Amino acid sequence: MAVKVIGTGSALPEKIVTNDDLAMIMDTSDEWIKERTGISKRRLSTGETVADLATAACERALEKAGKTAEEVELLIVATCTPEQLLPCVACQIQDRIAAKNAVAFDLNAACGGFLFALNTAYAYMSAGFYKTAVVVGAEVLSKIMDWEDRSTCVLFGDGAGAVVLEKREGIDGILGFVQQSDGAKGHVLSCGSRAVNNPYCKQEPLYPYVIMDGREVFQFAVRQVPACINQVLENLDMTIEDVDLFLLHQANARIIETIARRYKLPIDKFPMNISEYGNMSSACIPVLMDQLNREGELKEGMKLVLSGFGAGLTFGACTMIW
Ligand code: ACO
Repeated sequence: MAVKVIGTGSALPEKIVTNDDLAMIMDTSDEWIKERTGISKRRLSTGETVADLATAACERALEKAGKTAEEVELLIVATCTPEQLLPCVACQIQDRIAAKNAVAFDLNAACGGFLFALNTAYAYMSAGFYKTAVVVGAEVLSKIMDWEDRSTCVLFGDGAGAVVLEKREGIDGILGFVQQSDGAKGHVLSCGSRAVNNPYCKQEPLYPYVIMDGREVFQFAVRQVPACINQVLENLDMTIEDVDLFLLHQANARIIETIARRYKLPIDKFPMNISEYGNMSSACIPVLMDQLNREGELKEGMKLVLSGFGAGLTFGACTMIW
């Protein structure tokens, strides 16, 4: 038995914001952003919520998979930017699409979130609990950016992607994963939420926007992503040469190019869409996967490596046969 991706979907806000658009409202330039990050434009919400985007991505993935909402038994949403603390986004989707047979919950592992949610669904399904699952990565990061801080706000975009997983006969599907966390490095990428505020204690409100040590994050990514990829391949007696495509978290084109160079692999094995969408955190990998799937770039039997990394710090990799 294998757990296989049988459908993908994505949804993006309509508003396209180019680097030149940003240069009109802050001290930055198309040249700086492109050269340092590979980003040309991004989509930003003009009202679309995480639940709106996640629901649309989910519906498109189910349609592509030929599954109905009633068939979904497990629905996990990876997000760090829900509009509501309660109920979770997954339960909101469940209500909107009438997935009444699903157990639904959110998971927050920041930019590593989709990978962690995928691994969670895979573990439940491999253990025999569920046959059909939907895993979503969805973010409206623009609401947690400090739009006065040009070193962070230019990097991110909003969007959502989803995959449908099915447990079925055969060997094609997810082969294995590794995942790790390093809470001691939490400070390099953080964002506050609410502080303690009750009749007995009033703490100072936390800074409610993203703060990032860009260089630390860069170093962490180029060190840990290859380490995770090597580990997951070694566990499966596979080598880097066995892999057809590497679908990495789209944090920065330079991070991906550095990793490709270290492996001495052609950059076309590392598809990217960061130029168009920026860093959409947990939505990056499923949106990229959906794009490649719909363009016919993912052929049956291809070996894929997915790798996500982000605040926490969280990082991991997963291998699958498409
Ligand atoms: N436009 C113009 N100038 C800018 C901008 C901007 N948007 N942002 C910063 N600068 C300036 C700085 O003020 C600084 O000026 P100074 O030298 O006069 O002080 C100069 O550019 C260099 O700034 P650095 O922060 O040192 O630039 P660096 O080369 O490190 O690039 C970047 C910054 C792109 C963030 C880089 O560190 C990086 O790629 N880090 C990886 C982090 C990442 O990808 N994060 C994504 C989110 S995390 C995740 O998804 C896991």
